[in-house]
Amino acid sequence: MTPGRHASNVAAMTKLNIEPFNGDFGARVTGTALSGDIDPETLASIRSAFDSYSVLCFPDQDMSDEKQLAFTRLLGAPEAEHVTFGSTGDVTYFGTVGNVEDDGSKRDSGFVGTRYQKGNQLWHSDSSFREVPSAASILHAYEVPGEAGETEFASQRAGYERLPGDLRETIDPLYVVHDYVFSRSQVAPVNPNHAASLPPVMHKLVKENPANGRKNYFVGSHARSIPGWSGIDSRRLLDDLLERAVELAHIHAHNWQVGDTVIWDNRCILHRGTGYDADRWRRRLRQTRVVGDEPGVIPGSVTPPGPGSVTPPPLYREPSA
Ligand code: OGA
Ligand code: MN
Repeated sequence: MTPGRHASNVAAMTKLNIEPFNGDFGARVTGTALSGDIDPETLASIRSAFDSYSVLCFPDQDMSDEKQLAFTRLLGAPEAEHVTFGSTGDVTYFGTVGNVEDDGSKRDSGFVGTRYQKGNQLWHSDSSFREVPSAASILHAYEVPGEAGETEFASQRAGYERLPGDLRETIDPLYVVHDYVFSRSQVAPVNPNHAASLPPVMHKLVKENPANGRKNYFVGSHARSIPGWSGIDSRRLLDDLLERAVELAHIHAHNWQVGDTVIWDNRCILHRGTGYDADRWRRRLRQTRVVGDEPGVIPGSVTPPGPGSVTPPPLYREPSA
């Protein structure tokens, strides 16, 4: 075999196979193992599929935290998990979704952390409440319930494209305040340090994907209000936009299998957990996120945010007694 033929066979072996879902977003991707060792051509194909399809499902991944973090870094800067960071000041890049603790023990439905995760059953975009929202979430399934526990996805890009023209014109110039304490204190108490770390932040209501120019709106459970609008008018608009995005016919439900890695575009996708019997089943998924590049504005903040301004400010910590 000539070296040339050998090289092209290798390239063919690593070629991505992208199968779009039936609806208006999402694709199943096979033909690559996700880790830090992905070749630049494959990575470019993943990025472009991500920009086009918004949700990518990679089945049968032989994953570990180390590989997941290395892959996350290929997509951008990993985001410090906000619950741990906000509550304690410690930086970890992983969040655990489900009811299994790091030591392997299972928490049942009455545990506060399990209740707290119920907030994830409201349609949301991860980190939309941060000064710099995340661009992507990467979620890998290690343990899944024998029934239920799907994660549902809906596209605010497809939702925007379905809007009547006059509504598009109305919302194009608007801003929206996202506020974690507003959304999550309706579900479970928010730790006061955590709450203080997440002041309400203002983002553009309509965003544009920098790679392909496609527009979407940016709402979800953390979206609190439209600056300059009354509460009732804000809620009517935000609820209307949400409902249009998550119409039943336009939802994709992901039924998790162990080994699935799913990546979604938080800039335009909404998602939610659908619940499961946490007393009966174990569910353990590990999540990393990629920091985005569109900073919002914290109303009243004196320092305007710059691109990539994600360095955390100095922390006040209780002196240890
Ligand atoms: C998430 C999330 C909900 C679920 O992973 O960010 O909100 O239960 N998941 O799958
Ligand atoms: Mn989420």
